[in-house]
Amino acid sequence: MCLMKVLALESSCDETAVAIIEDGLLLSSQISSQIDIHKRFGGVVPEIAARKHLEIIDRMVSRSLEEADLDIKEIDVFASTMGPGLVGSLLIGLSFAKGMAIAMNKPFVGVNHLFGHVYANFLKYPLLKPPFMVLLVSGGHTEILVLKDLDRIELVGKTRDDAAGEAFDKIARLLGLGYPGGPAIQEAAEKGQAKYPFPRPLREKGNFDFSFSGLKTSVLYFMKKNPLASVYDVAASAQEAIVDSLVTKVFEAAESLHLHEIAFAGGVASNSLLRERARVQSEVSGIKAYFPPVDLCTDNAAMIALVAYEKAKRGLFSPLSTNAVPYLTLDFF
Ligand code: KG4
Ligand code: ZN
Repeated sequence: MCLMKVLALESSCDETAVAIIEDGLLLSSQISSQIDIHKRFGGVVPEIAARKHLEIIDRMVSRSLEEADLDIKEIDVFASTMGPGLVGSLLIGLSFAKGMAIAMNKPFVGVNHLFGHVYANFLKYPLLKPPFMVLLVSGGHTEILVLKDLDRIELVGKTRDDAAGEAFDKIARLLGLGYPGGPAIQEAAEKGQAKYPFPRPLREKGNFDFSFSGLKTSVLYFMKKNPLASVYDVAASAQEAIVDSLVTKVFEAAESLHLHEIAFAGGVASNSLLRERARVQSEVSGIKAYFPPVDLCTDNAAMIALVAYEKAKRGLFSPLSTNAVPYLTLDFF
């Protein structure tokens, strides 16, 4: 049996990450977050993000090889996220990975970041087998999906406006809670009570789409009308509305499609209320809920390396002309 070693880079947004896997087994996972740099601007500044990736990516690769106790010559495949994401940021990881592939005369694999988030589940649950339902909830995506096969995703429902993570970020900014909004709202909510009934739109049976932009507007008007309301209570109520929509719809979708497993993926899947509500709903419905560990929900390269490994096993290598694709869609494996 050939033990294939894959080194993958992830730089689609504000995390610079490198991981190495050998035959699906994680040997190293290094993540450096730029959150502290972007915090003061209240969001990711694309130009700064790209520059920061460039400044540290070579050291991150060396650190990862050290952690895996490998020489770069021992790597069989070089991989990188090719989209979706910020174009300048994507290009750093992509160019660096292609550069290593050329220098070492080894193949290159471009990876869809969205498959990466779904695959984060396999790092914790290697026996999980498609088909299963997926709730992909990140800064840019909110989708109910079916992973039909390891290389095939089918869309069941999606947000019509803001992504769930984007709603957390925008509402946190509105409440003066800082960036990134998800963890900030989660922390504030722990000190408050979900006592305000913010909207849960598109609730008709069989409608698996989401809408979160109205929630943001409701919070804005509520704060204008009730300037003395506790920020903690408002944060708890907004979090409750988002989590309620997500959990209700994904379990309804799984039931209607007769799927017995739901895998959660993306940065918002690290939310503790979402995890708790899904656990309860799982007990009620008998549908199993899977969550990657918190550090593998947000952006990381381990999930990218695992997709690259599956692609490489199928001989799906990418040409060196592969470009960054900021709006890469789910139909690209
Ligand atoms: O997957 P991710 O790291 O990057 C993208 O690909 O977008 O997701 C980032 C998003 C941000 O919007 C952030 O606020 C949200 O995930 N997030 C959370 C939590 N941790 C991160 N949202 C809710 N609760 C959290 N604990
Ligand atoms: Zn992501």
